[in-house]
Amino acid sequence: MKVFIKTYGCQMNMRDSEAMAGMLAAKGYEIVEHENKADILLFNTCSVREQAEKKAIGKLGFMSKIKKKRPETIIGVMGCMAQNKKEELLSSVPHLDFVLGTGQLHKLPDVLEDLQKKRQRLSLTEQSEDVLTGMGVHYTDKNTVNPYSAFIAVTRGCNRFCSYCIVPYVRGREISRTIDDVMLEARQLVDSGVKEIMLLGQNVAAFGLNGDTRPPQEGVSPFADLLYEMNEIKGLERIRFTSPYVSYFNNKLIRAMAECHKVCHNVHLPLQSGSDRILKAMNRQYTAESYYEKVLAMREAIPDITFSTDVIVGFPGETEEDFEATRSLFAKVGYTNGFIFKYSPRQGTKAAVMPDQIPQSVKEERNQILLALLEEQTNREISKLSGTVQEVLVEGAARTNKNQLTGRTSTSWVVNFTPQQGTKPGDLVQVRIIRPANVTLVGEEIANA
Ligand code: 5AD
Ligand code: SF4
Repeated sequence: MKVFIKTYGCQMNMRDSEAMAGMLAAKGYEIVEHENKADILLFNTCSVREQAEKKAIGKLGFMSKIKKKRPETIIGVMGCMAQNKKEELLSSVPHLDFVLGTGQLHKLPDVLEDLQKKRQRLSLTEQSEDVLTGMGVHYTDKNTVNPYSAFIAVTRGCNRFCSYCIVPYVRGREISRTIDDVMLEARQLVDSGVKEIMLLGQNVAAFGLNGDTRPPQEGVSPFADLLYEMNEIKGLERIRFTSPYVSYFNNKLIRAMAECHKVCHNVHLPLQSGSDRILKAMNRQYTAESYYEKVLAMREAIPDITFSTDVIVGFPGETEEDFEATRSLFAKVGYTNGFIFKYSPRQGTKAAVMPDQIPQSVKEERNQILLALLEEQTNREISKLSGTVQEVLVEGAARTNKNQLTGRTSTSWVVNFTPQQGTKPGDLVQVRIIRPANVTLVGEEIANA
């Protein structure tokens, strides 16, 4: 049986899809790259903004054609939108066979087996902790873009309830794996050739805190303990993580980042807003000042660290003054990458029913202003790197030039470079940077002394 999996949304969804591909491959299914070749079509969906749901619904509608041509095709919706809409999806999409929520993903192989024995439409959307340990399977094939880099989900769900966010409702309560469990998975990945591991969680730095929403006391950071342990894995070159909530960066965690040489010098640190009034309305438990203090503390410990962020523009009640506070902090931090989102009301969240919803045209305008600022900052920061030597983890052939390889610096810049003889994907090499070309760097590998 051939299976096609389409993934929408964040890295956690990509990781879930990979785990599901792995579970199915182990049962003898073949994972295919195109929907026309598949007997089973799976859609792993996102709900974080309305646009993400619309995209998946549109695609699903289109699948009725395939079902007409080949009625035996099995079609399933999984993940966040499945959890959000539940069995309602079965009535609104008549050619849909099943709905599998975020807490039930590990049951996919059983569901498919049952459906092949007996066709009946079903919806499984209960939350269950088994999903935490049931999703440790990995999968790579010839289409895997970078087999040297892997994701490990260390927490699932979120307890923070930011007032705009649907995640706590669709991914349920925050649960953490144990350090031993994560280490086992990490070692297996490294044994299979992985050089870089990205640790994932909706609030990844809350790892091991048992769902307590109070940021940890000084001296307490199970996430830092995990970084120290992972740093010792022989053969592993790099550790990244996303997304941490700024308040969880106590000195212990900052020290761990500085002391563990495998931890990359790039942090995705969601800001959301630079206005204290809006941060409060968002139920974000920090101020613009305390956010910036953490940035400074991290810069002091790790001077070449780069930051990326998420910002929401047009949150209900956001005035010009509030937006200006965001713009000014955004410039002060000097992010080298960022995602600017136009606020999208999500049913069931507190912000969706707040007064003073902002017109789309204003959201658009503020979005453009921050995007232009980001471009300016990125150009400025990238041009500082000409002439420096950067360590690059090689990912594969450069798209633009077949004689070049491509990879990333620890600070997350993409570098296309002319390699020395014998250099191959998975190697860690020294590259002299010649010049920036847009948002990537161009360089040449330095010969080993
Ligand atoms: N509207 C717009 N952006 C949102 N995000 C989360 N919820 C919403 C929403 N309702 C953004 C946040 C978060 C990122 C993953 O998505 O910036 O960090
Ligand atoms: Fe959503 Fe806030 Fe949790 Fe992030 S921390 S997933 S924005 S509720």
